[in-house]
Formats: sequence, C-alpha cells, structure tokens
Amino acid sequence: MKQIQVELGERSYPVIIGTECLAQALDSLLPKQAKRAAIVTQPNIGITPATSIEQETFHIGDGENAKTLKTIEDLCSEWAQWGLTRTDVVIAIGGGLVTDVAGFASAVYHRGVKVIHAPTTLLGMVDAAIGGKTAVNLEEGKNLVGSFWQPAGVICDVSSLSSLPEREWRCGYGEVAKYHFLGAKDLHKLSLTEQIMGCIQLKAEIVREDERETGRRAILNYGHTLAHALEMEKDFSLAHGEAVAIGIRYAAEIARILGRIDQERVEEHEEILAHYGLSFTLPSSFDWDRIVSFFQRDKKALEGISFVLDGPNGVEVVKIENQEILKEAMEALK
Ligand SMILES: NC(=O)c1ccc[n+]([C@@H]2O[C@H](COP(=O)([O-])OP(=O)(O)OC[C@H]3O[C@@H](n4cnc5c(N)ncnc54)[C@H](O)[C@@H]3O)[C@@H](O)[C@H]2O)c1
Repeated sequence: MKQIQVELGERSYPVIIGTECLAQALDSLLPKQAKRAAIVTQPNIGITPATSIEQETFHIGDGENAKTLKTIEDLCSEWAQWGLTRTDVVIAIGGGLVTDVAGFASAVYHRGVKVIHAPTTLLGMVDAAIGGKTAVNLEEGKNLVGSFWQPAGVICDVSSLSSLPEREWRCGYGEVAKYHFLGAKDLHKLSLTEQIMGCIQLKAEIVREDERETGRRAILNYGHTLAHALEMEKDFSLAHGEAVAIGIRYAAEIARILGRIDQERVEEHEEILAHYGLSFTLPSSFDWDRIVSFFQRDKKALEGISFVLDGPNGVEVVKIENQEILKEAMEALK
C-alpha cells in the first residue's frame, strides 16, 4: 500500500492507494471512538467490506437525479432511525456521486460526523473523493448546495475498478486528462496506479494551498464550466467525464481566440484527449441560451462569466469580457 498525505493541519488525512487493500486500510482508519459504521453505497457496486464494529449498509440511488437534498434528508433520517451518533463513522463506497452525497450528509448530520471515502471509480480516485468538496444538485444547477467536509481518510483500492464499465473509465480519464494541463505532464506515459497517484499528489498539493477555493483551487475546474452546463442542458445523458473532455477542448479554443495559447497547444489538448480515448465532439443539438445561463450561474462566476483557461502562466481563472468569444469558440468546435 502507498500513501499520500493531504496536509491540512488538524484536518490532514491519508489517501491510501493499493490493491485488495480496502478491508485492511479501513481498519487502520476507523476512528477510535466509533462504535457504528454507516456504509453508504449503491446496490450495483457490490462492495461491502466487514469492519470490526457494528455496521449497516444504506443504499442511495444512481445517476445525477439522485444527487438531491431529498436524498440527504432520507439518508439522515435512516441514520437517525438506526442510531448513528456523532462519534460514529460514515463510510462512502462508490463513485463521485456516492462520496459527494455521503460527504455532504456527514457534514450536516449532527453538525458533522467523520466520513471515510472508498472511491470505486477512476474519477472518484483521482478527483471527487479528495479535497473535501461535497454537494448536491438543484434544478437551477449542478452542485449548488454543499459544504467543505474533509474525510478522515481515503482508500483507493485499485482492484475495485475491475468491474468498472468502459464508459466510466472514459469519464475518469476526462479528469486524468485535466491534470495534464494543470502541471502533471507525462502522466499518460505511466501505469494506472502511477497515474492515479500522480493525480492525487497534484490535487493534494492544490488543496493544501487553497482548501476553500478562494484562489488556486479553482483551476481544478478546468473544462468544467461547459461540462456542467452541457450535463444540465442534456439532462445528464452526457456523463461528467465525457462532458469534461468537451469542456477542456472548448476552453482551449477560447484561450486560443484570446491569444493566450497557440495552435500547437490546442493540438496538444486534442492529442491528450485522444490518447485517453476521449471524444471532444459537441452534442448534435443544444440550446445555446440555456448554456449561457448555466455559465452565468457557475460557482466561480462572482460577476459575469469566468472560465478557467490555459495561458502563458499556466491555467488560471479568467473573466470573459466579451461573450461573443464564447459563441465563436463554440462555432469553431462544431
Ligand atoms: N467533490 C468533488 O471534488 C468532485 C470532483 C469531480 C466530480 N465530482 C462529482 O462526481 C460525480 C461523478 O462521479 P463518477 O464519475 O464516479 O460517477 P458515479 O458516482 O455516478 O458512478 C458512475 C456509475 O458507475 C457505477 N460504479 C461505481 N463504481 C463501480 C464499480 N467499481 N464497478 C461498477 N460500477 C461502478 C455507479 O453505480 C454509477 O452507476 C458527479 O456528481 C460530479 O459532480 C465531485
């Protein structure tokens, strides 16, 4: 087992990476005071490790439409009926949806109960389970209600990926591709475990520097402004990582139009996305006005529309003064 520490003072925690390591790693992370473990997962994942304390499994629904405040309420009610206390522990076993929902419910249940994340998707391992961002969706937008709630530990058991459907692999690689442009170059030449560790290392560094996303952490949203808008516009028929791949290519086009990067760098974007088997073709139809309204509601848009863009100083948040550029970039991708 390998370990990467997310250094956040008293909220620091380890990310354990290994194969067939879930049960052993869980035992080492269980809080001493915990008498009960509430395992939150989805029925199709089929991973229920035995812990050394009393445990109960709580299932949540599949798909973004299950990522709601109602799910949080139901989960908290079920925990209360079972008798979960503030000193017990929640264990989230699943993809980003499960860790986001279980993380948020843990943040608000009894004003905060410890949570351990065991991501079972590539996307969860390289991104969603690390860094303490938790959220659910509203009709008005994705991840609009949530909290920062750092886990007590994260376990990336790479063997749990063996049952992952092909589409979910692509989704994970959408985020892996993102890290290439955030500074983790040459990741594509490494083994899967090394790629996962490379992403975690970079994410841990960014989170340590800016836990609450007041600055640098926003770069983790590279490709996500269009991605979130497309996901909402297409009613989640487009998966997150697929949308991120399109969003990364779109962000490169905006950066090129603004003169921040040259054509060669745009081609590097295409090469990396293609290397990971990702398509960056726009959906055949969508409502542009709705897409723009989602841009305006994006969380990093404090005023007007902002995008995370590549440029001479690396990737950074850029305010878009001329919205025509957004349309021009969209036309170029069609
Ligand atoms: N909190 C963050 O920092 C952060 C970062 C990125 C993404 N996210 C969120 O993560 C979510 C996407 O996560 P995701 O891509 O992991 O999707 P997901 O959690 O919806 O999982 C995708 C599908 O894979 C299934 N699955 C999970 N593990 C499996 C396994 N081992 N074998 C077979 N099937 C398995 C799930 O049941 C589901 O059907 C989005 O809601 C996104 O907003 C959060």
